[in-house]
Parts: sequence; structure tokens; C-alpha cells
Amino acid sequence: MSSLIELAGITKVLKGQEQPRTILDGVGLSLDAGQSLAIVGRSGSGKSTLLSVIGLFDRADSGSYRLEGQEIGRIPERRAARLRSSHFGFVFQRFFLLKHLTAAQNVAMALVNGQGWLPRRQRRTRVMSALEEVGIAHLAKSRPAKMSGGEQQRVAIARALVRDPKILLADEPTGALDTETGTLVIDALLAATSRGCGLILVTHDRDHAARMGRIHDLVDGVLNERVAAR
Ligand SMILES: Nc1ncnc2c1ncn2[C@@H]1O[C@H](COP(=O)(O)OP(=O)(O)O)[C@@H](O)[C@H]1O
Ligand SMILES: [Mg+2]
Repeated sequence: MSSLIELAGITKVLKGQEQPRTILDGVGLSLDAGQSLAIVGRSGSGKSTLLSVIGLFDRADSGSYRLEGQEIGRIPERRAARLRSSHFGFVFQRFFLLKHLTAAQNVAMALVNGQGWLPRRQRRTRVMSALEEVGIAHLAKSRPAKMSGGEQQRVAIARALVRDPKILLADEPTGALDTETGTLVIDALLAATSRGCGLILVTHDRDHAARMGRIHDLVDGVLNERVAAR
């Protein structure tokens, strides 16, 4: 069976400056359903660029990217957009919640697509089960201003989960939170892996990284799997 995600020799070069700069240098990685992977590295090492390539917001200059066995590195933008919404959930350091909407309404926004809204009942069931999954069903009717940072981030995770993605991409999701609330956010992300979602977490926090199945270090665009400490 093929991996959920398989990258090989992924290279990204920034042009347009005095000298082209290599941001990703032959990156390879694979992720299966239900697996979790931490990517750690200094600021500027290329972590966000790598997640953008994986999430199809950006394209590599060379290398191969297979999603469920299919080469997708050079597909047209229309197909990439479809895959982004059918396969990926995104979580960022900033929560990007709409202030005037409740938690439930914020999550429901992710269910709007080219075909319009799902029927109201189905929408409500899916929104509530996503909020439950991240442990904040009781906040369904609250607005962001009334919630803690950790609660707001869990709304953002519910919004990512409500479309039932196959892969969650989280770019420093605890960067704006204290350790304790950060732990709840990681709990929520890991919960998704128990029902088969793949998770890639970019983090500076060693403890959070250690909770992932594997850790990869990104150093100046080169990715290496960290060998487990004995
Ligand atoms: N659009 C861009 N224009 C110019 N430089 C960029 C752009 N995107 C990323 N970079 C540069 O690429 C490098 C990697 O950035 P990034 O992927 O954001 O790193 P990280 O997430 O690890 O901090 C950095 O040196 C950054 O300045
Ligand atoms: Mg970054």
C-alpha cells in the first residue's frame, strides 16, 4: 500500500534576489494514515515553506510529491485547490477566527464550498462532533473574545477537522500559548490521529515534539529524521 504522503528530493529555490537561494534542499519524508510527525528547526530554516508545499499552497521546483500514491507535484491549480479542501486541514499560530461569529459558526464556515451549504441538520451534527472532538462543545455558542487562547485555537482545530481531512498541517499552533494550554491543543491534534488522520506539526516546543511518533530536524533546508534517544 502506498503512503498517505511521500516526498522525495523536494527542492525549492527563491529567485529574484541577487543570488538564487535554496530554501528546501532535497527534502524527503513520508507519512502514513494515523501517523504523527514533528518538524523542528530554527527560524528561517524552511519549515513553513515545506508545509506550504505539502499543503499545495506552494510548489516545489523539483522532486516528487505523491499523495496516496499519485504524483501531484505539478498538477494545475484548480486540482490543487480541490485537494486542499478534500485532503488537508490547516492550523496556524494565529487562529484566524471571525470575531462576530460563535465557535459553532466559525467551524461551520469550513463547510461552505462550491456547492453551497450542507443541509442545516447535517451541518450542525458535523460542527458539534468536531467541537466535541477537541473538547469544547460547551463553548459552541461563545464568541472568540470570551475564550482563552487555547480555546480559540481548539475552535480553529475543529474548523480544520470538520471537513474530515486526511492530513492535518499545523504550523507552530502553540506558538502564542502558554505550556499548559498548549498541551490541550496538542491533545486535540493527536486525537485526530487516533481515527486515521495524519499529522505534521511544526513546533519549537521539545515536549510537544516528543509526543509525535517521529521527529525530523530541518537545518537550512535539509531534513533529517532524528534517531530516537536511548
Ligand atoms: N516569499 C518569500 N520571499 C522571500 N524570502 C522568503 C519567502 N518565503 C520564505 N522566505 C525565506 O525562506 C526562508 C525559509 O522561510 P520559512 O519557511 O518561513 O522558515 P521557518 O518557517 O522555518 O521560519 C527564510 O530565510 C525566509 O526569509
Ligand atoms: Mg515558519
